[in-house]
Amino acid sequence: MKDQTIKDFGEQWLRYTDNEGYYGSLELLSDILSPFLKSDEIRGCTVAEIGSGTGRIVNMLLEAGVNHVIAIEPSDAFEVLCHNIEQPEKATCLRIKGDQLPAYQNLDYIFSIGVLHHIPDPGPVVEAAFKALRPGGRFLVWLYGKEGNGLYLALIRPLRDITKRLPHFMLASLVEILYWPLALYIKLCHWLPLPLGEYMSSILEKMSPEKRRLIIYDQLNPSYTKYYTRREAEKLLIEGKFINVRIHHRHGYSWTVIGEKP
Ligand SMILES: C[S@@+](CC[C@H](N)C(=O)[O-])C[C@H]1O[C@@H](n2cnc3c(N)ncnc32)[C@H](O)[C@@H]1O
Repeated sequence: MKDQTIKDFGEQWLRYTDNEGYYGSLELLSDILSPFLKSDEIRGCTVAEIGSGTGRIVNMLLEAGVNHVIAIEPSDAFEVLCHNIEQPEKATCLRIKGDQLPAYQNLDYIFSIGVLHHIPDPGPVVEAAFKALRPGGRFLVWLYGKEGNGLYLALIRPLRDITKRLPHFMLASLVEILYWPLALYIKLCHWLPLPLGEYMSSILEKMSPEKRRLIIYDQLNPSYTKYYTRREAEKLLIEGKFINVRIHHRHGYSWTVIGEKP
């Protein structure tokens, strides 16, 4: 199943290659890093991103002024990643899995945004991140959350059992159908206290129609997705020997977790 998920993403990112607008913006990076880091704190740093996809986060990190970024992507999206990188002289792209990240021991920060919840056994990836950081370096991960997503999960889980098996053209047609109720739901969130309302207004509403469609597709396509409880999310880094582990319930539906290498 784990390699099937990598295959799923390879196919997805060969079809959805660009990162335009708010979806690929420094403004969104600031939101993702908040409240633990400000984007200007990573200026001049040497960093890595585990699971880079099409290079969306890598380009955000470069725009924020990092000195060098190691971009890890195991899927066929690797060619899209290499093509999309805006300052290639400041990036090293490696087509490897996260657990194969070399033990550099000198990285200031490692990021993994929307990746570990697609890896059935993420422990070895956390271990590799620990080895690649310098003492005092920090690992920041963003994960789908279980808390705050009750109604959504009740709907999406049975749907995903079907959609993860659909060929692209059928899934893309379903996404087109789902796009319209989602657009209405986003509008309703202005008036009613609906589930996921904060996420809808703070994030999804700022995305272009094309990126909203991609986000629906991304929810329905991968073979493996786990929704983490607060305890599980913290445990991931604590069991990886990180200290000063802190956690934030981002927009009430997901977890940002950060830990430091002693
Ligand atoms: C949802 S995408 C996130 C891409 C990027 N971080 C972003 O936010 O735009 C998840 C990515 O993780 C990659 N991935 C899956 N399994 C992985 C593993 N074992 N090691 C590293 N990356 C992996 C997938 O190929 C995919 O590109």
